[in-house]
Amino acid sequence: MIDRDNIFGGEFDMSNKRLWLPILLMVLALMIAACGGTAPTETTAPTAAPAPAEEEAAPAEEEAAPAESAGANQLEFYSWWTAGGEADGLNAMYDLFKAMYPDIEIVNATVAGGAGSNAKAVLATRMQAGDPPDSFQVHAGHELIDTWVVADKMEPVTFIFEENGWMDAYPPDVISILSYNGEIWSVPVNIHRSNVMWYNPAVLEANGLTAPTTIEEFFTVADALKAAGVTPLALGDNGIWTATHLLESVLLGTLGADGYRGLWTGDTDWNSPEVTTALESFARMLDYVNADHAALSWDQAAQLVADGDAAMTIMGDWANGYFTSIDLKPNVDYGYAPSPSTDGIFMMLSDTFSLPKGAPHRDNAIKWLTLAGSKEGQDAFNPLKGSIPARTDGDRSLYDEYLQSAMDDFASNAITPSLAHGAAASEGWVTAFNDIMTLFVTDRNVENAQAAMAKACVDAGVCGQ
Ligand code: GAL
Repeated sequence: MIDRDNIFGGEFDMSNKRLWLPILLMVLALMIAACGGTAPTETTAPTAAPAPAEEEAAPAEEEAAPAESAGANQLEFYSWWTAGGEADGLNAMYDLFKAMYPDIEIVNATVAGGAGSNAKAVLATRMQAGDPPDSFQVHAGHELIDTWVVADKMEPVTFIFEENGWMDAYPPDVISILSYNGEIWSVPVNIHRSNVMWYNPAVLEANGLTAPTTIEEFFTVADALKAAGVTPLALGDNGIWTATHLLESVLLGTLGADGYRGLWTGDTDWNSPEVTTALESFARMLDYVNADHAALSWDQAAQLVADGDAAMTIMGDWANGYFTSIDLKPNVDYGYAPSPSTDGIFMMLSDTFSLPKGAPHRDNAIKWLTLAGSKEGQDAFNPLKGSIPARTDGDRSLYDEYLQSAMDDFASNAITPSLAHGAAASEGWVTAFNDIMTLFVTDRNVENAQAAMAKACVDAGVCGQ
């Protein structure tokens, strides 16, 4: 259904992507991690970043208990799902697994920090040390393929798809972004949408306002809210990925689907005036965010909207999982709309579960992946997670109003890949981008940020000199 507008803006073939620079960067990162012991490498530049709050802090306490031994009958699954909604979805899948396999002990290995801001570095260290979990959460697209598959750290899972008759159960374009050299490398559990604006309807109504549909309208509404003493936009960028997340929505709204996709394929010029406009809009949006944004996490920012302490936030639809986990109702307690100027476009990402080479309990991992890829598993997980099933045969009646609307939009909108969540670009590029954003949210220097972003595209091997 989504190949009408290919996610990556052309014939997608991961095998032909220019991968060498990102791989070299990854290898370098792994070597540095190996030399430096087990301390995780932060993905942001801490010098320019404000002090992180607990949620995104170094994951010492949250670090997973290592699997006791390959002999114990365990399943160690590794993720960063600790917030309301995401943890609930995972627990629902665990409950199903426990009912099916009561003898297998689940080791819930989590490293807190939204979008894997801490978990990915700890995972890289473990993988480098030859200590993989049995399965781990990884984003579909470049994150999966460039970081792990090309580096020869994964087993293909094509056989699981074939044994379970799944080849027709998933959209071909979803399978294509999990494929490399004729094999499928991970099991997709969901589709998330990144370009969603969540708002508090009572706050808007009390000020005689409606949710803005364009970037221009956003500023009109934001001015009115600010004049009334209300924080217009909640941001929680103690993990810098949320700033990248906001910017990807502004880039999409400014450049449109084709222009945005071209940023990651070299077809759109990073030095163009449209990119300048997007960066200026982003910098201007920062005039309207909560003063304590640098101390908060994404879910704490969502909570500001829930409490009526801010009117809007732009976040992926795991925020829907968060809102429902605190018993709020869509279209009653909170509203949603495509982020400004992105109506008709669905910025997608997908969480997938992997089978790393050397998984200590490989048979149990295969059982887990078989559940994760099943209709039953996805229909238990996604209604709580705030995502729609990656499968095409999910039971619509189990999903709330927001998620039903996301299903409809995914089936009809232009699809674009998320940068902040691994779909659009290699991890090396995303890390470079996050570092640029760390500086940009502080100094708001559009010229410097744009030049650095243009350079990052060259460094990634995608843009010419
Ligand atoms: C994303 C991930 C989502 C959600 C979010 C916040 O990267 O794909 O499943 O967990 O981070 O943690």
